[in-house]
Amino acid sequence: MQKPINEEITSRRTFAIISHPDAGKTTMTEKLLYFGGAIRDAGTVKGKKTGKYATSDWMEIEKQRGISVTSSVLQFDYDGKRVNILDTPGHEDFSEDTYRTLMAVDAAVMMVDSAKGIEPQTIKLFKVCRMRGIPIFTFMNKMDRQGKEPLELMEELEEVLGIQSYAMNYPIGMGKEFIGVYDRFNNRIEQARVEGESHFLPLNEEGELAVEHPMTETSYYKQALEDVLLLNEAGNEFDVDRVAKGELTPVFFGSALTNFGVQTFLETFLQFAPSPQPRKTKDEQLVDPYSGEFSGFIFKIQANMNPAHRDRIAFVRIVSGNFERGMSVTVPRISKSIKLSQTTQFLADDRETVNEAVAGDIIGLYDTGNYQIGDTVVGGKLNFQFEALPQFTPELFVRVTAKNVMKSKHFHKGILQLVQEGAIQYYKTLHTEEVLLGAVGQLQFEVFEHRMKNEYNVEVHMEHIGSKVARWIENEADVKESMTGQRSMLVKDRYDNLVFLFENDFALRWFGDKYPDIKLYNLL
Ligand code: G4P
Repeated sequence: MQKPINEEITSRRTFAIISHPDAGKTTMTEKLLYFGGAIRDAGTVKGKKTGKYATSDWMEIEKQRGISVTSSVLQFDYDGKRVNILDTPGHEDFSEDTYRTLMAVDAAVMMVDSAKGIEPQTIKLFKVCRMRGIPIFTFMNKMDRQGKEPLELMEELEEVLGIQSYAMNYPIGMGKEFIGVYDRFNNRIEQARVEGESHFLPLNEEGELAVEHPMTETSYYKQALEDVLLLNEAGNEFDVDRVAKGELTPVFFGSALTNFGVQTFLETFLQFAPSPQPRKTKDEQLVDPYSGEFSGFIFKIQANMNPAHRDRIAFVRIVSGNFERGMSVTVPRISKSIKLSQTTQFLADDRETVNEAVAGDIIGLYDTGNYQIGDTVVGGKLNFQFEALPQFTPELFVRVTAKNVMKSKHFHKGILQLVQEGAIQYYKTLHTEEVLLGAVGQLQFEVFEHRMKNEYNVEVHMEHIGSKVARWIENEADVKESMTGQRSMLVKDRYDNLVFLFENDFALRWFGDKYPDIKLYNLL
């Protein structure tokens, strides 16, 4: 390592980009990698499906569908900082892994398509970030296209997501008439389609252009000045502490595709995004990243990355200290000591072997079946466990059986292991004990089916019973089976807790009106 360990830790910036599919997350990631020198070409990689750095073809299913099942980790250096970007898959590959990835980051960048505003997937991911109280930075993308009015977008942030915002910059024009942004934070105007010295134009003390420029005659410039004045007077103030707590989101307008505003965004983001943060243990103690000894937790397990070896990789977010290849760690859950000789890290398009990593970094450990999602790994004499990762309320359900009843033993063994691994959630009907599986994304079922066949040699039959609104019950003793009807069913989860599955929100509300004494709650 080049620097003392504490300096290395301070230089880490570990974050995820959250967005609804097509808002421009992949494009943004490409541009960030370009500035970080991890890729040479600033142009977009056409057909991201074959993009050489972001995807990994570890699983057969990935190849078949041409998507990345896993959340990859990308790393690059910029301005003395080491940046770790954790990918959160969208589309059909959205899964619990996507949520859990957010447990391993210290900040989030929210990409919004400025023509569409806040979309459903963004809301879901935002909620998880909000729950953790991590800083959220917003990039209003696609300003090179006609979109919603900037003030309207900011209002939407506040109304739909309930987070206050501060415009770091403000667009001048839009679409074909996109002239650039009024950079409130750096006191300058950043011009679109102008390279070289005059890319940035200074502002005077009144907040107007300090140099003569034809733009001052345009209605777009005048409108931007007026809106900025309004924001100065009636908008939120920039407050570093509130940004750090995730109460105020700094908003940047730009265009990832045309590479406008990305570098300014990156520099400002790196300035305010936190270095690795402490994490809580089960006993409510905080583990300080600088406390010396190695500790971390597993937020994801990826199986069969290499079908030839049937290997599994456990992804560890390092919370404190540093990792050295060959070191021994303990998994307190099973009181087992394990020598970490084989580790892997994801840098650009290679799976590289990592020799050293520090708090804030993500490493992959080869796993022969020792680890579970949520496990703590500690070095030296440490002995504690980090607080449990949250469980997420599934939305999709299938009824599942083995095609061949003779395989029922393998079937149950496979399900048990995959459920423990956090790949899928397990439920059973009362009395008949039929197996139901729940997931937050369709892909989890496909992965389940594929792995049952390939790893446990069991072909399964899955009957889709559609999306349900799942609710757990505080006062189980008061629940009667007769309370269920056409639009709801009562099942048990893997811990034998009762769960209502409602057909939709309407059925949930109807139930609430009819049985006000039954206290229902959902997981995240
Ligand atoms: P995602 O990862 O969030 O799903 O989004 P992605 O980056 O793949 O972008 C989705 C589409 O939006 C892509 O177009 C991409 O080129 C476009 N896009 C991203 N950023 C901008 C922007 O700043 N301005 C404009 N105008 N478009 C943007 P596509 O048609 O799906 O793919 P392609 O054929 O352009 O590659």
